[in-house]
Amino acid sequence: MEKYPGKKKIAVFISGRGSNLKSLIKFSKKKNSLFEILLVVSNNLKAGGLNYAKKSKIKNFGIRYSNKTKFESQSLKLLKQYDLDLLCLAGFMKILSSSFIKKFSKPILNIHPSLLPKYKGLNTHSRAIKNKEKFAGASVHKVNQKLDSGKIILQKKVKILKKDNVRSLKKKVLKIEHEIYPKAIEKFLTNL
Ligand code: GAR
Repeated sequence: MEKYPGKKKIAVFISGRGSNLKSLIKFSKKKNSLFEILLVVSNNLKAGGLNYAKKSKIKNFGIRYSNKTKFESQSLKLLKQYDLDLLCLAGFMKILSSSFIKKFSKPILNIHPSLLPKYKGLNTHSRAIKNKEKFAGASVHKVNQKLDSGKIILQKKVKILKKDNVRSLKKKVLKIEHEIYPKAIEKFLTNL
């Protein structure tokens, strides 16, 4: 099923726009990249990001999220058909259960739009601005049973300027996300 023997095989979970997926696909196509994306799964059948997978002829699946148990057992069944090294969450807006993490048995990484351990969960940018933080940023971390709490693989920060609002900050941080996620994956895979 893999196109490039020798490269590590990853799956990506998304929920929406998929700009991080797009950057991962672009990076994975580089000759010297350490990984290839074998499949993309979205819990949202209408996720725009699925189109990036389609365009690149990467297997893609929308799995309706009627409830956590059903979604997880269906996606697990699918993942098990591939000999994966890693699962990457890229704008995947559901929390995976500890049973899924255990049963999947391979590492899972996530990208989060804050300088963890600060601002776990949602609305990270508005909370950072409200708290008059000097810096915001993005973190790639290992997924464990606790929300946004696993070991941090890579982080990058960006200054919050007086003129910044949620929209401008989101844009700045997203740019950083696209930069650090592929780097973090390669760093992680090198140390596997
Ligand atoms: C990204 O900012 C990502 O960090 C965030 O959702 C956005 C998805 O954008 N993820 C989370 O907040 C996860 N808790 P994208 O679909 O364009 O990659």
